[in-house]
Amino acid sequence: MIFYKTEEEIEKIKKSSLLVGKTIAEVAKNIKPGIKTITLDRIAEEFIKDNKSVPAFKGYRKYPATLCISINDKVVHGIPDNTELKEGDIVSIDCGVLKNGYFGDSAYTFCVGEVKPAIIDLLQKTKESLYLGIENAIVGKRLGDIGFAIQSYVQSFGYSVVRDLVGHGIGKNLHEKPEVPNYGKRGSGMKLSEGLVIAIEPMINMGSYEVVQESDGWTIRTIDGLPSAHFEHTIVVRKNKAEILSSFKEIEEVIKKL
Ligand code: CO
Repeated sequence: MIFYKTEEEIEKIKKSSLLVGKTIAEVAKNIKPGIKTITLDRIAEEFIKDNKSVPAFKGYRKYPATLCISINDKVVHGIPDNTELKEGDIVSIDCGVLKNGYFGDSAYTFCVGEVKPAIIDLLQKTKESLYLGIENAIVGKRLGDIGFAIQSYVQSFGYSVVRDLVGHGIGKNLHEKPEVPNYGKRGSGMKLSEGLVIAIEPMINMGSYEVVQESDGWTIRTIDGLPSAHFEHTIVVRKNKAEILSSFKEIEEVIKKL
């Protein structure tokens, strides 16, 4: 069952999604060598609660934290712990919140101090692929057009698209139909209609697309140990241009000052 959202619902999803962006920006202020990922998680949890909202991941299928924090070859769903960030790492911060009955979901991958140019390129191309996917999230196109745009772009640089995890519909639930793969065939899949709200979240690997789950039951990492990047926006399908409901504005203001 696919739930198309009313304008009132979209407004609520936008409020939640904007709070996610502000939360990740608070976390970004603290990204530096030596900080423990559990400390970043506490900062996010406190900020969300101060804003009278609920961390969406904590307790979801027994997930134990507010953020997913995934370093280097960890793709997604890394559990915050006593691990310290170190110079040269990349770190994906993924966050969801629930506010007024609706979810928002967004993720951003950061550099810790100075990072090798080849890895910075992976981050840039992954972020660009997210926006190319979003450009295809318009009425009349199909789900496969989103995946095709992402896949063909990143593969042109020799990168690969993770297949085992996908984007998703979002609204009264964190995960709704449809699944939104970051790979696909042009013109294939479900037709997109106004009011479809989805989280698009390319997970792009420097090497092989293959991933494995660690014994903690959550962390997904690359099979070859090469780095992976992850960016995510919550968006709504519109007629001529998708509307992005989450925002990287506050995050990128913080990055500029780092
Ligand atoms: Co998501």
